[in-house]
Amino acid sequence: MATTISIRDIAAHVGEVVTVRGWVYDRTDKGKLQFIQVRDGSGIVQCVAYGPGMDPAQFEAAGRLTQESSLIITGTVKENPKAKKSLPVGYEIDAQTVEVVQMAVDYPITPKEHGVEFLMDNRHLWLRSQRQWAIMRIRATITRALTDWLDDHGYLRVDTPIITPAAGEETTTLFEIDYHGDPAFLAQTGQLYNEANMMAFGKVYAFSPSFRAEKSKTRRHLQEFWHLEPEAAFLSLEGVMEVEEGMISYAVERLLDKHRQELEIIERDISKVENIKAPFARISYDDAIKRLGELREKTDDPEQKELLKIEWGEDFGSPHETALAESFDRPVFVYHYPTAVKAFYMQPVEGRPEVCRSVDLLAPEGYGEICGGSERIHDAALIEQRVSTIGIPREAYAWYLDLRKYGSVPHGGFGLGLERVVTWLCGLPHVRESVPYARMLSRNYP
Ligand code: 4AD
Repeated sequence: MATTISIRDIAAHVGEVVTVRGWVYDRTDKGKLQFIQVRDGSGIVQCVAYGPGMDPAQFEAAGRLTQESSLIITGTVKENPKAKKSLPVGYEIDAQTVEVVQMAVDYPITPKEHGVEFLMDNRHLWLRSQRQWAIMRIRATITRALTDWLDDHGYLRVDTPIITPAAGEETTTLFEIDYHGDPAFLAQTGQLYNEANMMAFGKVYAFSPSFRAEKSKTRRHLQEFWHLEPEAAFLSLEGVMEVEEGMISYAVERLLDKHRQELEIIERDISKVENIKAPFARISYDDAIKRLGELREKTDDPEQKELLKIEWGEDFGSPHETALAESFDRPVFVYHYPTAVKAFYMQPVEGRPEVCRSVDLLAPEGYGEICGGSERIHDAALIEQRVSTIGIPREAYAWYLDLRKYGSVPHGGFGLGLERVVTWLCGLPHVRESVPYARMLSRNYP
């Protein structure tokens, strides 16, 4: 009996008769020879079917195999440096038997170029392509590395609810649902619950989907994204930056260690990823405004001059974030934003309440904000006053206000948008390819 293997383990089976089970990725007909590229989800292997050496009916069926037909092939594993399409490269199988499980009919995604909307309509099938295979593997490794870093640094994963009675961020992006006759919302963040959990466990993180009814179509915004949110007691703004820097540089190391092949498949400029090393740059909002002014002065491009216009007190748009991060050539922390453009829970800077102890991490190459965090208000009276400005009845926040009554402590945390990080590290043109099924303003299918 031949052993059934995963293609990724093929190197350990040279000279053996093995069985692989999967789908036809591609096929080349050379008369008496059929070259069938078979993928099984773990890799791709070139299988060579030679007519005179095989059962005639099976060879005839092999010659009719269409893209994405499912099949089971048994044969001998050989090394062949010319098997460049195999993954891992350099192996092939001399087929003895080819059993067709199902012949696929008119698979819509052919090797020709397709438009993005067509591919997104067929996302359930597009995921089978090599490029998407590479991106999803990278996504899994980044997720694992980020959470490993937190686990290794004493953070406990404590899950937070998705259906909530209160808003965690701006009320303009809430998805409202009917909770048995009462209004409720899909969570925009796990933060408020993280703050309760932090008081119970010291250092915690939540990792779950967050929902934002974003009305704008951009290449960075999803309606549903995976949010990784650490929170810790006594964590200062500087501490928040250190955690972000530590986690992200560790994830980059793991990515480079494990996925050079995938980065090549997606044609990522690997040197850009290799450049991502701690320490990241740090600049205050005040200085960032000055720097933007200088960049505006320097440019001769009238359009860029217009785009970079900004007054103190305004939030950055993507041209500002892009220009700032480019001028550092690595991720940059911008801290102490104006209080008025940030969320209700952010601690004001002592003696300067018009700015707050907030920090955004901006990625280079135009990818913009990937993390947002802050020190939180821990004073009971101040948080009470801020909650009264949200526009949602106080009762929904009574439990949150309790946290400032029973042993309140300075604390801080942040949220990292997984898709933003994957999009950046993979160098993708749009966030839609960084998640298996993107939920966007005009897309909720498949
Ligand atoms: O800056 P945000 O809104 O911060 C919060 O939600 C905090 N409560 C997090 C915390 O401190 N625990 O979001 C954090 C990150 C952003 O930096 C971005 O990476 C991502 O979440 N994000 C989105 N990603 C994709 N699509 C969207 N619509 C996103 N909105 C935010």
